[in-house]
Amino acid sequence: MKAYCGHIIYTPTSLAFEILPKGYVVVNDRGIIQGVYASDKYPYGNEIEVVDLGNQLLIPAMNDLHVHAPQFANMGIAMDVPLLLWLNKYTFPEEAKFADIEYARTIYTQFVDELVKQGTMRAAVFATIHTPATLLLADLFHQKGIGAHIGLVAMDRNSPDNLCNSVDEAIEGTNELLAHTKNYPLVNAIITPRFVPSCSPQMLRALSKQAKDRHLSIQSHLCETTNEINWVMELEPEALSYADVYHRYGLLTHDTLMAHCVYPSDIDMGLLQQTGTTIVHCPTSNCNLASGIAPIRRLLEAGIPVTLGSDVAAGHDLSMFQVMQSAIQMSKLNSAIHKRQVSALSLSEVFYMATKLGGSFFGKVGSFEVGYEFDALVIDNDSPMHDSIYNSDTLYTRLERFVYHGNVYQIKKRYCQGKEILIK
Ligand code: GUN
Ligand code: FE
Repeated sequence: MKAYCGHIIYTPTSLAFEILPKGYVVVNDRGIIQGVYASDKYPYGNEIEVVDLGNQLLIPAMNDLHVHAPQFANMGIAMDVPLLLWLNKYTFPEEAKFADIEYARTIYTQFVDELVKQGTMRAAVFATIHTPATLLLADLFHQKGIGAHIGLVAMDRNSPDNLCNSVDEAIEGTNELLAHTKNYPLVNAIITPRFVPSCSPQMLRALSKQAKDRHLSIQSHLCETTNEINWVMELEPEALSYADVYHRYGLLTHDTLMAHCVYPSDIDMGLLQQTGTTIVHCPTSNCNLASGIAPIRRLLEAGIPVTLGSDVAAGHDLSMFQVMQSAIQMSKLNSAIHKRQVSALSLSEVFYMATKLGGSFFGKVGSFEVGYEFDALVIDNDSPMHDSIYNSDTLYTRLERFVYHGNVYQIKKRYCQGKEILIK
């Protein structure tokens, strides 16, 4: 057992932060939290080692619920066209390079290093159609000691020939990934149809069966742009809506992550509600590709769970802190556009999305509560601008400034399931 003593900040609910100035988190040898205490309620004496973090913040680590590892080389560039053109012009040619395992090793190694640097300890990741490169990505996450759901991407229509797999190849690739990650405690496979335009009905049917048979989560894209939605309705004319295509094949479940949902119809909303599907809001991506502003408040009010994703490389940065502030900024624009009839997202709401809600896809992850895995970041952003008195208000201000204006140099330590993860 070990106790970490610092300024503890986390979100047990989306409504407010729990802030414990110089509080304690007690963690057992398996990385599980045994107790969380305010400074005057700490029950232990010398029998437990105390790691004193001084005047630093201790917060849950970040979870990125939607990111494309093979797009890492395109991060921060090539955003001059909307989604469907962007895929053909920049994204598909880059992903095709992952047939080359050495290229994959170079890019995937950098990707995992950067994820850790930015404080993300768990991610739901799209790889490519290429099985060897996808197994390698799983190895890299395992070796780093951080968690991931990794998706071998399925695509068998409307895509370049060198970026298509057959139904059998997609199913077999995920079976190989499952066998390969069997002894990787933090790494798992996730069923990953790219999106409806690139997956035939046969593909969607087979993937749904595999998800059921092997008890796997599912990830894909939904209602990102209006052109994409129109195309889906042309491809699947019998469907009542975009989400209905996935639903007809049983792909909307409690364990499904659907990225975007910028333009949900009432039918889409009903299906998401009914199936317990989680939406992954990717505000930086929606801004960069000029996709639109997702109606997050409406989704939340309908009881649909919403978490956050960087969506690199449509998103330009792996930092989930950047994604949080972008989510708030987009929601403020939305509020202004709707003459303040829709409330903006609060800091605690977006923090909860990136920590406790996002973490729930990886087990008991994302909060400092008894039974949770200790995934944490130590933040040192103290400065003369801040009040030197430690109380909830000043610590809240420090967190706010870190979310809006922090950087990786202020992240002093990173923990995943109780183990410190070092950066290069
Ligand atoms: N829809 C289908 N593929 C992609 C992708 O790679 N990125 C984004 N943002 N949307 C997609
Ligand atoms: Fe995406």
